[in-house]
Amino acid sequence: MNNALEPSAVALGTAGWGGGWGVEPLDDGAWAEAERVASDALAAALEAGITTVDTADIYAHGRSEQTLGRLLAADSGLRERIRLQTKCGIMIGGSPLYGVDSAAAVESTRYHGGADHVRRAVTDSLERLHTDHVDTLIIHRPDPLTRPEETVEAYLELASAGSVGSLGLSNMGVAWVRRFDDALRAATGGEEGIACLQIELGLHHRGLVESAVLVNHPDSADRAVVGEAGGLAELCAERGIALQAWGSLGQGRYTRGTEQAADQDREAAAVVAEIAGRLEVSGEAVVLAWLLKLPWRIQPVVGTVNPDRLRAAAQAPVAADRMDSLDWYRLWTAARGAPLP
Ligand SMILES: NC(=O)c1ccc[n+]([C@@H]2O[C@H](COP(=O)([O-])OP(=O)(O)OC[C@H]3O[C@@H](n4cnc5c(N)ncnc54)[C@H](OP(=O)(O)O)[C@@H]3O)[C@@H](O)[C@H]2O)c1
Repeated sequence: MNNALEPSAVALGTAGWGGGWGVEPLDDGAWAEAERVASDALAAALEAGITTVDTADIYAHGRSEQTLGRLLAADSGLRERIRLQTKCGIMIGGSPLYGVDSAAAVESTRYHGGADHVRRAVTDSLERLHTDHVDTLIIHRPDPLTRPEETVEAYLELASAGSVGSLGLSNMGVAWVRRFDDALRAATGGEEGIACLQIELGLHHRGLVESAVLVNHPDSADRAVVGEAGGLAELCAERGIALQAWGSLGQGRYTRGTEQAADQDREAAAVVAEIAGRLEVSGEAVVLAWLLKLPWRIQPVVGTVNPDRLRAAAQAPVAADRMDSLDWYRLWTAARGAPLP
């Protein structure tokens, strides 16, 4: 639709934007600082070719979207330089975000895929973001009480109004991805399927990869990896659903330096550093390249606000080009802390 930008190799996550997760409103000074941090991060990201921006209604109780909205309002050319995705479907207990007319619903956290909720969430997100459309709407988590057909119907209304470009999912397993994709394909006569699935995935969180090799192996029970992760990547590949990896830097556990690494991460941090030095790329790029080497169209989403780390992460495709399968297996083995079976 309106925005022709393709997804960038690495995406910018904004869960750390908006002055943190406190429920109290920010004062002017805190808002100015939140905008400065976001503006510096976005400038570094764009300059390094990271143009997909990932946010969600719940991040910092709406303030992540608001912060991005302030940047968009201040720069009329910015919207067309980014591919923008937001999420809805989680209502956080006690959050001020939905407090006005649904207090009962948010006493404790719940998920909500209902059509009215999705319509309202998108309207509110667009207002906070100071834009008339997002390129992708992601359903944040499955709501066991709502049929995917209902959520899909709300999405299609929003899409035909030009408010949303495509539909993505997050934190869903094989069964839900299949249900959503079937529902969207049925409603569009096969014209459109789910665009992407965002799940936690990285060198530290390897269920999709482990499940492929631990089938029928005793370790699979302990690691709880085969269940929902088994077959998920293959299903997405078959159906043309791109994978987005959240937590892809492992919150820095392999790139803080071996001294700072936790005991169980030290060996992998050392391997990351050695490969980074030899391939002349950053450690962050090595960590992300481990994902890019997989044959599943994975787009890592990085949550750092540090401009240097964003520039380092943007080297991931170069690192993937230079990394051979020997290095890839060394990283995997070091991260799992045990030889492959
Ligand atoms: N769909 C979902 O349910 C879901 C869930 C979580 C996140 N997400 C999305 O994915 C994005 C990324 O997720 P994430 O933030 O959990 O993962 P991440 O990118 O693995 O971690 C980012 C965090 O790690 C810190 N970090 C990274 N490298 C570091 C280093 N070398 N030294 C010290 N700190 C380091 C960053 O701090 P600095 O900022 O100081 O660098 C930041 O707080 C989020 O922003 C959000 O957009 C989606």
